[in-house]
Amino acid sequence: MLNNTKPLILGVSGASGLIYAVRALKFLLEADYQIELVASKSSYMVWQSENNIRMPVQPLQQEQFWRQQAGVEEAGKLYCHPWGDVGANIASGSFRTLGMMIIPCSMGTVAKLANGLSSDLLERAADVQMKEGRKLVIVPRETPFSLIHLRNLTTLAEAGTRVVPAIPAWYHNPQTIEDLVDFVVARALDQLDIDCIPIQRWQGHR
Ligand SMILES: Cc1cc2nc3c(=O)[nH]c(=O)nc-3n(C[C@H](O)[C@H](O)[C@H](O)COP(=O)(O)O)c2cc1C
Repeated sequence: MLNNTKPLILGVSGASGLIYAVRALKFLLEADYQIELVASKSSYMVWQSENNIRMPVQPLQQEQFWRQQAGVEEAGKLYCHPWGDVGANIASGSFRTLGMMIIPCSMGTVAKLANGLSSDLLERAADVQMKEGRKLVIVPRETPFSLIHLRNLTTLAEAGTRVVPAIPAWYHNPQTIEDLVDFVVARALDQLDIDCIPIQRWQGHR
């Protein structure tokens, strides 16, 4: 039984930190969500650089690839879209969704979204969420931010996008890289009202 009848769009852009996308996918599939995943063209290069892995372009092969990376063989539903397929279901506002999370989100994608450009499927799907008044959550990763990055992020925040930077906290006593990553992913999913990651939440001083 799927957790929700409406799918969630997961956008993966060409910023560093693909582990954020992998951990998000793992928990969402395990919680039986239906995921429509679109990875930008640049993200293929990041897979190569960060993990020395070639991500398949073909949708079914890519689904297997992501499931393997996430360590989730069967749970949930996953559809992978080619980056250039602007005729896909998620390119239309008539296709109903829970919203979209872009994780990690590059400054290139931030700039294009802030200016209404829809030059690939990831950008178009995000543009659609905004025009339909649905939830759009981005997890930007860059340091330092230029003034232009900050202005573009501000534009998106003003338009209702939730900006959850890839900045982990330390008060939950993280022991592993996954602890740090999962904290960021959980806070991003909080913005979509999705609670499927067992992080330690602050309970006040005890
Ligand atoms: C290994 C690698 C790491 C990168 N890391 C970042 C990053 O952390 N943040 C960022 O904004 N761009 C980063 N880039 C640059 C983007 O991939 C590049 O600007 C690209 O055009 C973004 O396209 P996209 O937004 O369509 O994915 C990285 C590129 C490579 C190859």
